[in-house]
Amino acid sequence: MVTAGVTALLSLSSRQAFVAFGSLVVTFLFFLLIRQLAKQRRPRGFPLGPTPLPLIGNILSLASEPHVYMKKQSETYGQIFSLDLGGISAVVLNGYDAIKECLSHQSEIFADRPSLPLFKKMTKMGGLLNCKYGRAWIDHRKLAVNSFRYFGYGQKSFENRISEECMFFVDAIDDYKGKPFNPKHLVTNAVSNITNLIIFGERFTYNDTDFQHMIEIFSENIELAASGWAFLYNAFPWIKILPFGKHQKLFRNAAEVYDFLLKIIDRFSRNRVHQSPRHYIDAYFDEMEQNASDPAASYSKENLIFSVGELIIAGTETTTNALRWAMLYMALYPSMQGKVQKEIDSVVGKSKLPSLDNKPKMPFTEAVLHEVLRFCNIAPLGIFRATSEDTVVRGYSIPRGTTVITNLYSVHFDEKYWRKPEQFSPERFLDCHGNFIKREAFAPFSLGRRHCLGEHLARMEMFLFFTTLLQRFTLQFPQGSEPTLTPKLGMTLQPHPYLICAIRRQ
Ligand code: HEM
Repeated sequence: MVTAGVTALLSLSSRQAFVAFGSLVVTFLFFLLIRQLAKQRRPRGFPLGPTPLPLIGNILSLASEPHVYMKKQSETYGQIFSLDLGGISAVVLNGYDAIKECLSHQSEIFADRPSLPLFKKMTKMGGLLNCKYGRAWIDHRKLAVNSFRYFGYGQKSFENRISEECMFFVDAIDDYKGKPFNPKHLVTNAVSNITNLIIFGERFTYNDTDFQHMIEIFSENIELAASGWAFLYNAFPWIKILPFGKHQKLFRNAAEVYDFLLKIIDRFSRNRVHQSPRHYIDAYFDEMEQNASDPAASYSKENLIFSVGELIIAGTETTTNALRWAMLYMALYPSMQGKVQKEIDSVVGKSKLPSLDNKPKMPFTEAVLHEVLRFCNIAPLGIFRATSEDTVVRGYSIPRGTTVITNLYSVHFDEKYWRKPEQFSPERFLDCHGNFIKREAFAPFSLGRRHCLGEHLARMEMFLFFTTLLQRFTLQFPQGSEPTLTPKLGMTLQPHPYLICAIRRQ
């Protein structure tokens, strides 16, 4: 009887404990809910935007083709409107005028990156690409720009080294003997090698599986970083405790890339001679040593690893996708391809390698490459920016630290500047005499202080790879297979994998 009494008492107290615990959890959840709803209130004077759902805001609308959704919304709310990314108030800039007004005319104010949980977790807001606006970014950008000049395009011999890589590339394509192949891996390897020359002073062979694996999972992360899970993680960072979800894959990939880069940086900095840099890594270590006694300096091994990773992926993912789109459109429009080949034959000839000196005499080729960048929108939303100070644009108040999304796609499809923007038409970059003309609303590399650091290099690579390829081959799809033109979504827009035949020209 005594035992039964104790059991009853115990069960009573555990029930009470359960009730107490339950009410604690409910109170906590209620508190979180209130906090989240409060975060979802638009700041005073903020631009309007589509009505957000409680908790998740407008995240669901961004699941497919966010750049298209945003352009559509701008028709209702104007070129500058707001979105709620689950408690994170973001301003979206649409159309050339609004983007120029903010990024060029208020260049410094719009030069920051937002402190979103995902960026914080990936690079602690250090490195270069994700670095907060301030001295650390200025120092890292300056070092990278100087290295790109000193070890890259500032040297006369650098063009020859790109041409050498072009030859490796076309020789590897020749191995397929006109049979169908997916060009993605070859283009990726060839393009990444140009950045590798600057960063490591060396190229990697096309069968270096370790390097290829690193690029593959890094580029998978570029896709995952634009997934719904990434938006959810930014809104609710506590979901990191969930054992499932794409954000977990993102973290695993990032850790693997970090370890790989650490090893490779150690390998390439061996036998370094102080103040005699052979490549970007040496130059970084020199800078780190020179600033060792400056407590405000931001050079560190960790920031070097982040910067190297960012330079490799920013240079590879974008230029590779641009070239893959260019190949696809040439196979799709054989008459355009024929015109490019005719220009190559008459300006470069059949046996000499294409050179950058040929470029001014090849307006149609230039027009095709520009139209690829406009029409294919490699980085449709750029990279998220943030305001470094409170500001006012077109009467809207935008507080410091606000996330800013630059819809570059809307610049390239801005009806005010482009006639029939939905048509692929290189002629829009030519005048009535067939001369190449620059167009104002063309911003694939973005604008302002934070614009793409690799623009010059990317343009060199695109021209040399594209012309060397079409000098030697005619591209066509295997009989009966035409790829979809719908892009694969991520932070960049890339073609879905496709097969192509490269037929040797006579
Ligand atoms: C077709 C090729 C390329 C395209 C379309 C492209 C596009 C872009 C865009 C849109 C941005 C965002 C700028 C912003 O914040 O608004 C960017 C940033 C950047 N790009 Fe590129 N890019 C290309 C090639 C390259 C190459 C070859 C490199 C270097 C090897 C590179 C390195 C970077 C870096 C480091 C940033 C960050 C700059 C900063 O935060 O200061 N990009 N790029």
